[in-house]
Amino acid sequence: LLTILVSVTTAVDDPVCPATSKLSRASFPNGFLFGTATAAFQVEGAINETCRGPALWDIYCRRNPERCSGDHADVAVDFFHRYKEDIQLMKNLNTDAFRLSIAWSRIFPHGRKEKGVSQAGVQFYHELIDELLKNGIVPFVTVFHWDTPQDLEDEYGGFLSQNIVKDFREYADYVFTEYGGKVKNWITFNEPWVFAHAGYDLGKKAPGRCSRYVPGCEDREGQSGKEAYLVSHNLLNAHAEAVEVFRQKVKGGKIGIAHSPAWFEPHDLKDSNDAPTVSRVLDFMLGWHLEPTTSGDYPQIMKDLLGYRLPQFTAAQKAKLKDSTDFVGLNYYTSTFSNYNEKPDPSKPSWKQDSLVSWEPKNVDHSAIGSMPLTAALPVYAKGFRKLLKYIKDKYANPEIMIMENGYGDKLGTTDSVDVGTADHNRKYYLQRHLLAMNEAICIDKVRVTGYFVWSLLDNFEWQDGYKNRFGLYYVDFKNNLTRYEKESAKYYKDFLAQGVRPS
Ligand code: NOJ
Repeated sequence: LLTILVSVTTAVDDPVCPATSKLSRASFPNGFLFGTATAAFQVEGAINETCRGPALWDIYCRRNPERCSGDHADVAVDFFHRYKEDIQLMKNLNTDAFRLSIAWSRIFPHGRKEKGVSQAGVQFYHELIDELLKNGIVPFVTVFHWDTPQDLEDEYGGFLSQNIVKDFREYADYVFTEYGGKVKNWITFNEPWVFAHAGYDLGKKAPGRCSRYVPGCEDREGQSGKEAYLVSHNLLNAHAEAVEVFRQKVKGGKIGIAHSPAWFEPHDLKDSNDAPTVSRVLDFMLGWHLEPTTSGDYPQIMKDLLGYRLPQFTAAQKAKLKDSTDFVGLNYYTSTFSNYNEKPDPSKPSWKQDSLVSWEPKNVDHSAIGSMPLTAALPVYAKGFRKLLKYIKDKYANPEIMIMENGYGDKLGTTDSVDVGTADHNRKYYLQRHLLAMNEAICIDKVRVTGYFVWSLLDNFEWQDGYKNRFGLYYVDFKNNLTRYEKESAKYYKDFLAQGVRPS
């Protein structure tokens, strides 16, 4: 009897990985959640229904069609009208959970409560969440996935202004109060690094501002090289304010940020500069937004290298930020090489310069780090996924980690027919490799990963690539009524999830 008691207690404290002959759900600890992910702007469409106000990307794509591949998300994949059908796809996949985001301007069309609440918008998310729950699918909700209400953009420059902090707090408070009784898992911000770097330094995503030292950015706004740091600073303070409200209002809930670091393989392990370079670039790409939520402040290396260009937190802000997440959300896609770059020149500010890393050293065949032919736009390297998980475990005191995104984008515009698009062997192979790497991280390296979401359920609006880059497990026929078709990868995931026990 004693032996049985001991083994039961151990199983709860230290999740056991059952030995299985073939990788499947059954190879993971009991209770592990598998799902798919989406974001409001990329799937919903229905921009004129429920009195939804314009979002940053609506206006950005209208004003600069060439920066959105000539596409827009007015209809997207019409998830707004088809969510019931799409929830059946999730069930068909045997998934346990679904990650969605709320469109801020569907709740507050003008960004602030005093300017009006859309009850129809509020109702839409109630119905969506209820439908998920009715079908036994656990909702994970992102409060902000890049769709700033355009009115706040026009009024004070969105995240460039610290006004966003109180407005975000008000919006987060509203959605926590409204949905917190039935949604327990939340993400305040999606990929702050991408939002800040691509939107305010590289000029590749809305609002398209950039440092003049990035080629092609000479004429754009935002050239000081400080904006990405300012935007992130406001975003982090907004996160801390929202978490303060969350902890008062959503009892038994968990909250985090979805970060998006790549793994960096030292270009030359024999070069003594390379290993420190890996940790330095990860401090810039991950620590920038993660470390304030654990220690209350930015990584020391960022302070040392950026000096006056990095804003400073007050003591009160630090106190609110410290320990402000319950799990580390991780969106993992790719790895790359890194090596030491020249010293930064503060008169040429841009993130790449600042992080002191050259990502793509000359004369190196990138496919050398991939374990499959380079058919995607980014190197595929599942080993990097495992290494990154171990790195986070070691560096940040063994936190709970949730993989909020992992997935494969087809080469631009190569899969625009149902037959070609559904025969997605590369995506299937990608998922297999990454599920295996995650299993090794959990079962061998003992990293505390508790959930995994594939990006994405469906092909959708892929920001600057419009509809030309497909990430879905289901193919969407944009030429013909947005009909959904199961891809090979969906069949694989479905079969993987059919084995073992679904968490109840
Ligand atoms: C990250 C983002 O969160 C998501 O919006 C995007 O579509 C995927 N990665 C693929 O690029």
